[in-house]
Amino acid sequence: MDQVNEVKEKIDIVEYINARVSLKKSGRNFKALCPFHSEKTPSFYVNPDRQIWYCFGACDEGGDVLSFVQKYEGLEFVEALRELAQEAGVRLDQKGLGNEKTRIKDEIYAVNHLASEYYHYLLMGHKVGKQALDYLTKRGIKAKTIKTFKLGYAPDAWEGLFRFLSKKGYRDKLLEEAGLVIRSDKKQGYYDRFRGRVIFPLQDVRGNILGFSGRVLSGDEGANLADAKSYGVAKYINTPETAVYHKRQTLFNIYLTKQAIQRADEVIVCEGEFDVISSFQAGVSNIVAVKGSGLADEQLKLLKRFASKIIFALDSDKAGLDAVRRGVLLADEFGFDVRVAELLEGKDPDELIRNDIVLWKKTVSKPRVYFDFILDQAVRRHGTSSARAKQTIVSELAPFFARTDNVILQDHYVRKLSDLLSLSQNAIQKEFAMVGKHKEEFRKNEKNVAVSKREPRWQLLEEHILSLVFQLKDQAKAIETIEQVLSLEEMPESAVTKILIKLKYRSKQGKVDVSDFISSLGKELIAIADKSYMREMNVDKKISELKRSTYELKLVMLKQKRDKMIKEIRDKELTEQKTMKLNKQISALAKEIQAAISARTR
Ligand code: CTP
Ligand code: MN
Repeated sequence: MDQVNEVKEKIDIVEYINARVSLKKSGRNFKALCPFHSEKTPSFYVNPDRQIWYCFGACDEGGDVLSFVQKYEGLEFVEALRELAQEAGVRLDQKGLGNEKTRIKDEIYAVNHLASEYYHYLLMGHKVGKQALDYLTKRGIKAKTIKTFKLGYAPDAWEGLFRFLSKKGYRDKLLEEAGLVIRSDKKQGYYDRFRGRVIFPLQDVRGNILGFSGRVLSGDEGANLADAKSYGVAKYINTPETAVYHKRQTLFNIYLTKQAIQRADEVIVCEGEFDVISSFQAGVSNIVAVKGSGLADEQLKLLKRFASKIIFALDSDKAGLDAVRRGVLLADEFGFDVRVAELLEGKDPDELIRNDIVLWKKTVSKPRVYFDFILDQAVRRHGTSSARAKQTIVSELAPFFARTDNVILQDHYVRKLSDLLSLSQNAIQKEFAMVGKHKEEFRKNEKNVAVSKREPRWQLLEEHILSLVFQLKDQAKAIETIEQVLSLEEMPESAVTKILIKLKYRSKQGKVDVSDFISSLGKELIAIADKSYMREMNVDKKISELKRSTYELKLVMLKQKRDKMIKEIRDKELTEQKTMKLNKQISALAKEIQAAISARTR
């Protein structure tokens, strides 16, 4: 545990987070738009005294620099610790180096790394790779690019890689867990997963090799999946899900392009390895590929760290267009500025680039507003003549329009559609409004869920009170103020009350340094104390607010007590004596409640 503290002490959380999320000073805190969810006003706070962060928005979560790294980089605790240790220049001992799970991950990274060297060597330095090298050259890939992307070749043999890695001392089981070899059912043994294929290493943002994809050498470049299947093998195969490779989190080739993406504040999303490689080679390097599947939440979250603008450059076939339609909505939800690069020539960026680099550059420098793109595509696909086509177009477009609250924009497109389809603007608006209403209901439902998940009122009040106490200058006086209304012993048995009792005791010994006080608390109290310490309070008169809130809490508690008694009388068969006693107590409570109400407003 000591090493954890040593690392934490050497890293300043404000500096560390500020290098990733730009922070602004705000009172005792720094704040920013939360990197973990999409929002328009900042609810993400970092506090230098306590070296903590907290998102008071949708996340409602916080912690120290380690938990930040974990969440931000998607790492396990030990992995985050190692990352920070490296940055802090702290050497971790055996214990800091991790458990079984992280050890296996490390081993997989290492063996993948070795495998990539093996594949790369065979492509570039061995005659067995000649055919593959010719293939790549024919596709216009230069030697320098091959080196940059560390492309490789897996020979058409059953046990090449397996033997190579076994000789290096790697266990069969690990090779299987890395997805490099497959266990054979017939003969007891293993064989290579990738055979006779060009190999693309798949890396994470930090450069670890997670797995590989491999493409057959035969088959023309334009061949689609169906064609490839018709000659018996899949055109591409990939590492299956392993302890380190998760398809939904991986983007080809984010490690090499993240800086370019950050600089441009813009990322081009395409489908395939060759699209990325060709574009990179042509000088447009802020590009990643989703590898033929739809864009997943995890991938968008990752991209959000590097750019605010996204350009879809997906294949111009039907699958590609469907992917754009889904991707646009999802990316929009994540708060990206979304555009679409329309591939007028060539079925994918790679083809376009090979035909006309200048046109590719023009296409991505002037991407289209996605409304226009979606509209054109719908018209192109369905035509505009039949009533049925018109209906399909309008309802296909409705979800996209329902997303915007921009009245001018809506008006513009309603007019455009009305001209295009010779429909009345009224009809179109009605259809759009209907979808819009669904959206409203959806939102309302979401809100209900959020409300029911929230803490009960007394708990919110308690935390509010604790925030005020921490942020007042004199803690002894603050607690005195509370106790004029409600003694700490009468407060709910809760973490907040425990903290207040400790603070009362501590404040009797002299002026309290709140930050130090919080550090001295036990683990189960520290989180709630930190959250209260950081919460921004926009109240002028904190002392009278404290008094008012305490009355409020007292009221809530009294009412709860009263309701419980009423319920008891109603639901249980009590003796007359017992009922009378309860009734007496209830009217006493009622008086107390009245008194509290008038005292609160006084
Ligand atoms: N893909 C895959 N598995 C398949 C087919 C495709 O993982 N069986 C992924 C690959 O990453 C591929 C992308 O989906 O690059 C798009 O597929 P496709 O359009 O069929 O291939 P291209 O990218 O055009 O590949 P190429 O130019 O090499 O023909
Ligand atoms: Mn292609």
